[in-house]
Amino acid sequence: MRTVQLTVFWCFLVWMPGALGWSAMNGVLWPQPQKVIRSAEAFTLPRSGFRIEHGPGSAAGANCSVLQNAFRRYYLLILPRRVGVNHVKSSRKSLLRLLVSVKTAKHCAEYPNLGDSEAYHLVVQQENATLTADNVWGALRGLETFSQLVSEANDGSLIVNKTIIDDFPRFSHRGLLLDTSRHFLPLYILFQNLDAMSYNKFNVLHWHIVDDPSFPYQSVMFPELSNKGAYNPATHIYTQMDVAAVNEYARLRGIRVVPEFDTPGHVQSWNKGQPGLLTKCYAGTKPTGSYGPVNPVLNSTYNFMKRFFTEISHVFHDHYIHLGGDEVDFSCWRSNPVIKDFMAKMKFGTVYRKLESFYIKRILDIVTANKKGYLVWQEVFDNNVTLGPDALIHVWKIHQYQSELSNITAAGFSTLVSAHWYINHDDNWKNWTEYYLSDPQNFTGSEAQKKLVVGGEACIWGEYVDATNIMHRLWPRASAVAERLWSDGSVNNTTKAYPRLASHRCRMLMRGIPAQPLFVGFCEQEYTGGWAKR
Ligand SMILES: *[C@@H]1O[C@H](CO)[C@@H](O)[C@H](O)[C@H]1NC(C)=O
Ligand SMILES: *[C@@H]1O[C@H](CO)[C@@H](O)[C@H](O)[C@H]1NC(C)=O
Ligand SMILES: *[C@@H]1O[C@H](CO)[C@@H](O)[C@H](O)[C@H]1NC(C)=O
Ligand SMILES: *[C@@H]1O[C@H](CO)[C@@H](O)[C@H](O)[C@H]1NC(C)=O
Ligand SMILES: *[C@@H]1O[C@H](CO)[C@@H](O)[C@H](O)[C@H]1NC(C)=O
Ligand SMILES: *[C@@H]1O[C@H](CO)[C@@H](O)[C@H](O)[C@H]1NC(C)=O
Ligand SMILES: *[C@@H]1O[C@H](CO)[C@@H](O)[C@H](O)[C@H]1NC(C)=O
Ligand SMILES: *[C@@H]1O[C@H](CO)[C@@H](O)[C@H](O)[C@H]1NC(C)=O
Ligand SMILES: *[C@@H]1O[C@H](CO)[C@@H](O)[C@H](O)[C@H]1NC(C)=O
Ligand SMILES: *[C@@H]1O[C@H](CO)[C@@H](O)[C@H](O)[C@H]1NC(C)=O
Repeated sequence: MRTVQLTVFWCFLVWMPGALGWSAMNGVLWPQPQKVIRSAEAFTLPRSGFRIEHGPGSAAGANCSVLQNAFRRYYLLILPRRVGVNHVKSSRKSLLRLLVSVKTAKHCAEYPNLGDSEAYHLVVQQENATLTADNVWGALRGLETFSQLVSEANDGSLIVNKTIIDDFPRFSHRGLLLDTSRHFLPLYILFQNLDAMSYNKFNVLHWHIVDDPSFPYQSVMFPELSNKGAYNPATHIYTQMDVAAVNEYARLRGIRVVPEFDTPGHVQSWNKGQPGLLTKCYAGTKPTGSYGPVNPVLNSTYNFMKRFFTEISHVFHDHYIHLGGDEVDFSCWRSNPVIKDFMAKMKFGTVYRKLESFYIKRILDIVTANKKGYLVWQEVFDNNVTLGPDALIHVWKIHQYQSELSNITAAGFSTLVSAHWYINHDDNWKNWTEYYLSDPQNFTGSEAQKKLVVGGEACIWGEYVDATNIMHRLWPRASAVAERLWSDGSVNNTTKAYPRLASHRCRMLMRGIPAQPLFVGFCEQEYTGGWAKR
């Protein structure tokens, strides 16, 4: 082990002699935009006087909450307050304004959607820089890019080079999965991650909100679910106010919130507040006292699911709900006499996948009736459930995932991939370079099939993470996924990416995200964890 680490160490020394210190403000970009032209002419950003404003021709104005809020955020990120830095006299020309214009203000009061434009055009020039975008989401991405361009000169002044950027994402679904069932994550961790996501141009929070261990979602219709199923019904829950706060915090950053309510497996916590929902397991003719997946043969199950998912359809605003459908254990269904009778009645024989399909089909119908779309884990496709044309199939199994992507897209379905992006697998060899080099379109298939890949998600399952360690386990490794999903596929040289990612990590530290180091070295401004003011 030691030998291996030494080899890696020397390898890096050869790669980057004398470059072990990284600046948070050196103008590097992450993720790499599609097209950048930078020149050596630099402008000064006056610490007092620089403004972010609506451009003269913009469709949006002072009543656009998304942009007003973003102007404030980025103003503070670009001009961090610093003790002891006074106005520096400089011979450079000044950049006084960033003028932000959008073609439509329609999204100011809306939630983002899969496939919304996020393209922007940024011109940094003397006096007025201009940022133009189709809509506010593109403007948000451009504001992030502009904030990254600003660097700090040796004399302490803020400078930004003359630059032209044309940018848009390679994939439209760029997600991060957070699991709040195995460990409860306090609200501030969700907000902190949404901030970090916006610094990396992620645009989907996949909120795996409930699972076997706990049910922290406080339902309006079925409050007993969290009263009985949460770790602590007073402290370890997400109230309706909390969910609304997450939805809005995400919206202001152009991030969709896709909730996952995984059934019929992964539901142990549901039965505590909704007795009778799950299948009783039997040993011979006697119940064992334990429970299996949702009981798919009872009308009461579907009456409950209809009311529950109707609530969820209103509480979460995204068009999509993730319905899970993974890892259904059939042994309990097999043991239960009522289920066995139903199987016989339905002529399913002993093919329990048919029963699973029967169940999933009914859940899909409920969600469709609520005019929502759905994501499902790959097993639902593997088990031949009839899916609507707008279904998104989520590939998570690493084994033969490329073949799975070929099969799903050959059947004409859209898909997204997480198989190689399980960031909770904290094994040493699963470092950022491996995530970085995994391409979602690297499978056998036609161009039309490749186009059916809408993106992917970095996943951090909750077994071993809570508020103490989730941020640094995720960041900056999730940043590697972010660049893969945003930038052109040809941006894939890890040697070139390393110094950018190291600087980007330092920038995240400066912005309060405790991202772990990649390797030996230091940030010019080290993380203070709130103990000292910058
Ligand atoms: C920005 O401009 C400075 C000089 O004004 C130059 O030294 C530097 O290389 C430029 N940076 C980029 C990325 O072009
Ligand atoms: C903002 O104001 C304009 C014109 O005053 C109006 O047409 C638009 O609906 C308003 N938008 C929002 C999000 O309130
Ligand atoms: C820069 O923008 C301001 C405010 O919109 C405007 O008054 C000024 O004329 C612009 N300057 C140039 C050079 O376009
Ligand atoms: C369940 O619902 C179906 C269809 O609505 C109905 O035919 C059946 O009688 C119901 N079963 C019970 C036990 O209520
Ligand atoms: C799904 O359908 C295909 C083709 O009709 C068939 O080969 C396969 O065995 C089916 N899979 C399951 C799990 O039923
Ligand atoms: C994809 O389909 C082929 C042909 O039916 C099958 O052999 C292969 O096992 C499938 N891949 C996966 C991951 O199921
Ligand atoms: C990252 O993992 C790859 C193999 O997957 C290895 O070659 C490389 O040395 C590792 N880098 C670091 C910094 O550990
Ligand atoms: C694509 O996947 C294959 C098989 O896993 C791998 O050998 C190859 O390096 C990958 N290519 C790219 C460009 O990622
Ligand atoms: C990197 O990108 C180039 C150009 O698109 C491609 O030829 C190469 O296969 C890619 N390599 C990897 C490891 O992804
Ligand atoms: C990656 O970039 C480095 C440094 O520019 C270069 O030496 C190396 O050949 C590149 N690697 C590949 C695979 O293109």
